Amino acid sequence: MMKQLLLDFVGVTEAAALASVPWIGRGKKLEADGDATAAMRRKLNQMQMDAVIVIGEGELDEAPMLHIGERVGAGNGPALDIAVDPLEGTNLVMKGQGNSIAVIAAAPRGCLLHAPDMYMEKLAVGPKAAGKIDITAPLLDNLHAVAKANGKRIDELTVMVQERERHAQIIQTIQQAGARVQLFGDGDVSYTVATAIEHTGIDMLVGIGGAPEAVVSAAALHSLGGEIQGRLLPSNQEEYDRCLKMGIADPLKPLRQHDFIRSHECLFAATGITDGLLLQGVRLYEQNKQITHSLVTYKSDTPLHFIESVHEQRLTG
Ligand code: FBP
Repeated sequence: MMKQLLLDFVGVTEAAALASVPWIGRGKKLEADGDATAAMRRKLNQMQMDAVIVIGEGELDEAPMLHIGERVGAGNGPALDIAVDPLEGTNLVMKGQGNSIAVIAAAPRGCLLHAPDMYMEKLAVGPKAAGKIDITAPLLDNLHAVAKANGKRIDELTVMVQERERHAQIIQTIQQAGARVQLFGDGDVSYTVATAIEHTGIDMLVGIGGAPEAVVSAAALHSLGGEIQGRLLPSNQEEYDRCLKMGIADPLKPLRQHDFIRSHECLFAATGITDGLLLQGVRLYEQNKQITHSLVTYKSDTPLHFIESVHEQRLTG
């Protein structure tokens, strides 16, 4: 059932990406996020499905649109859980930098982890190293395991790490082991998904980032045969209690791939806003046309599709 909705979901991320474009490089991240969210919501509500937002723009009292628990869709199709990030990399759009995307993940109702908006420790790899990593083991052991699984020497590994103070120790460990660190500024979903796309040359992603982004990425890794593991990092009692409220019985328990997605079926779609590693940003074409570049994953014989679409702009005035 979900498979029939693949192109509709691509249409949803395309709409969010197109709505973000006017805000690229204008220093206004709230406006960019607001327009992307409104466009995404409009498209979702046109779809033949009965869906609930489990990861969205925030709780009911803090987000006017696509808040957690909001029902979307026309109500007459499959019952789904949806995780959205209408603008992954708000700072990137605000600063006019590359690698921002609009992204969505979906699975049958009750099958996506309801992750609160807090930090999570993450470890992600592609298909060859799936099943060989363990987030509770020392990073060095994981580096050796991934090198062996990917048929490389340690000094041939490329590990993505978000450029943050909190990762100083991780970076040191990876470099002392002889592997290459590739730092990125923002937008860890692209780089997590890239671990499962061989031509990117990325072997692994390690570090602390947003928990919602991990759930969205897990949907892509699920279809592509990769793996993500994580550990929530509630920073105080209030965050700990929020995990319990969202149904996570043991918030400190390491999370495995099947804890993120509890179904064999799920999908992931992303559209580039600004140029990035996986996707080209929105391009203007023949004055009133725009081209979007998207990817969609769904577990099947061909789990990965890249899609280019041409959109006619409605001219006003
Ligand atoms: P936003 O688009 O919500 O700003 O997230 C961007 C991002 O880089 C995520 O990809 C990442 O998981 C998170 O921020 C890291 O958070 P922080 O900027 O606090 O280090």
